[in-house]
Parts: sequence; structure tokens; C-alpha cells
Amino acid sequence: MYGGGNVFEPMKVKELADEDPILLKEFQDRIDRGEKIEPTDWMPELYRKQLIRMIEQHAHSEIIGALPEGTWITRAPGFKRKMALMAKVQDEVGHAQLLYSAAETLGKPREAMIDDLINGRSKYSNIFNYPAFTWADSCFISWLVDAGAIVNQLANAKGSYGPYVRALDRICKEESFHLKYGHDCVASLAAGTPSQRKWMQEAIDRWWAPMMMFFGPSDKISVHSEILIKWKVKMASNDAMRQQFLDMYVPKIWELGFTIPDPLLRKNEEEDKWEITEPDWDEFKRVINGDGPCNKERLAVRRIAEERGKWVREAINRKSEKYMVPLA
Ligand code: 3HC
Repeated sequence: MYGGGNVFEPMKVKELADEDPILLKEFQDRIDRGEKIEPTDWMPELYRKQLIRMIEQHAHSEIIGALPEGTWITRAPGFKRKMALMAKVQDEVGHAQLLYSAAETLGKPREAMIDDLINGRSKYSNIFNYPAFTWADSCFISWLVDAGAIVNQLANAKGSYGPYVRALDRICKEESFHLKYGHDCVASLAAGTPSQRKWMQEAIDRWWAPMMMFFGPSDKISVHSEILIKWKVKMASNDAMRQQFLDMYVPKIWELGFTIPDPLLRKNEEEDKWEITEPDWDEFKRVINGDGPCNKERLAVRRIAEERGKWVREAINRKSEKYMVPLA
């Protein structure tokens, strides 16, 4: 599907209507029966393309997501917190590696994915384009952003594409440790001095709106949900995930004595549904298309990392060539 190295052009993907109807039906039947699709199995080109898009964006979110928290490792309060945060950030980068490998099984080389990221052709999660000004911002990410990620990933881990769901399974186990760590950080600030409580409240106030956008646009305007749900790539709609997050975490935030900066937030008990202020989808579009508060900074850091790591990749490739034994 993709050419080698960084010189690649995604090929035009067959429309579903042009796929072999018998193969297409067998494929859908397998999905409906709950079977896993593996890399060498037949799949519609659109399924492959959608999976590459989604897994690649997920992988990028993990490495970019490591940046706002990573800057807090040296400033985390105390040795224990520094060690825990360092381990967490390391896990997130490891998740990206697992996800890039899963996406590679679909035919797009890792170099091409990184190239698309650093040149702004690929998306990654909106939320990591906001600044982590204080230690409390880092605590918000560790607890609540990871909580949102778990809601999404636990659902998708039951999906149809084998390599992705196996990666998600492992990722979810590690994320559940992050969640406990994050909750402990927030609970410590909640039980701390008035200044510490104030910092945490300010972090909640800053991050709440991007957090509501994290689950993706509302179902009315989501572009890909219908086909992804039909193919069991996505196992819950964006609104369903947002609702699940609100159900699980609003009471926990209140329990710690914090408020949520949304005057319309309330549980409609009759409809068993949280009502919220509609997120600003114009801001969301701007941020995911490159014009958020930190987009430029995040990509600049990744470009530097790519540049500085070049000699290592070249040395590894040269070494493997040197030791390659020609076949007789
Ligand atoms: N951030 C950036 N872009 C987003 C987004 C978000 N939060 N939500 C949606 N979008 C983009 C989509 O990618 C799509 O853009 P495209 O057509 O150019 O690719 C567009 O907005 C329309 O949205 P849709 O609802 O149609 O998109 P999807 O059906 O793909 O749903 C999703 C979006 C729910 C994020 C889905 O892609 C998904 O479940 N992805 C896998 C999980 C993931 O990527 N999580 C990211 C966070 S990982 C994380 O937080 C790590 C943690 O450890 C810290």
C-alpha cells in the first residue's frame, strides 16, 4: 500500500462498492461472529486504511502525550514522585512502540508514520496541545486523561483487529497503574494546603474543556464512527465514551472537594444521561489541525528527537549490513 522509506504516497483506496461482494460478506460475517482479523487475512482496503489512520494517530498521541508530563519529571515533588512519573512516561513511549508495530502490520512503515507526524500530516490527541503550567496540570493528565484513555481503550480492546487489540490489552494493564498513581497525586493535593488545593482546582478549570473534546466530536458530527462501529474497530461511540467517563469520574472529582467548570453539568436521572455545555467544536478543529496553544512546540520537540536520533538509526543499519552474511 505504501512505498518504502519516507518516499510514499498512499494509494487510492477501493470504494467499498468496488470490493468483491462475496469476500466482503464473509468478512462482515467473521466480524459479526466476533472473530479476530489478522494481518494476512483478506480485508477491504477501507478497513486497512481506517485502521492505519486510527492506530497511527493513537501511537502519535502516546509519544506526544509523554511531552507535557515529561517536562515535570525533574520538578516532581520528591524522589518517589520523580521515579513514578519517569516510569509512567517511559510506559507511554513504550505504548507508542507497540502501536507503531501494530500499524506496521497493515503495510505502512514506521518511518513514514513518523514523517507524517513531524510534518503535520497526521493527527494526534487534541489534549496534548495544551500547556502543563504546574505540577497540578501533570496530576490532571496522569489521573483524568489516563482515565479517559482507559475508557476508550478498554472498549476498543474487544475490537476486531488482532494486533491492535493485543496491544491495547497490554496497554490497558499499564494504564491502570497510571490511573492509581494519578489519583494518588490528585488526592494528595486535595488533602494539602489551601495553595495546593487551589493549584489543583485551577488545573481542573484549565483542562476540563479539552478533556470533554478528548472523546472526539459528538456522534451527530463524527465522520468515521458508523463504519468503525460496524467493523468493530470502535466499540463505543464518542458520546457513549464521554458519558461513561462522566459517570465514573464526576463523582470522584466532587468527592475530593473540587468543582467542575461547567455551569450546565448535571445528571438527567430520567434519561440516565449527563448534560454538559456543548464543547467548542471550532476550537477542537483548530487544535487538531495544528493551531492549538502548543502544537508547534510539540512537533518541534519531536523533530529535534528525530534529528538527534538519526546517527543511532544509521549506526544500527550500518552495523547490520556489516554483519550480514551473504547467502552462498
Ligand atoms: N484528538 C485529535 N483528533 C481527533 C480527536 C481527538 N481527541 N477525536 C477525533 N479526532 C479527529 C479524527 O481523527 C478525525 O480526523 P481525520 O478524519 O482527519 O482522521 C476527525 O477528528 C473526526 O472524528 P471521528 O469521530 O470521525 O473520528 P474517529 O471515529 O476516529 O474517533 C477517536 C476518534 C475516538 C479518538 C478514535 O479515533 C479512537 O478511539 N482512537 C484510538 C484511541 C486514541 O487515539 N486515543 C488518543 C489518546 S491516547 C492517550 O491519551 C494516551 C494516554 O496514555 C495518555
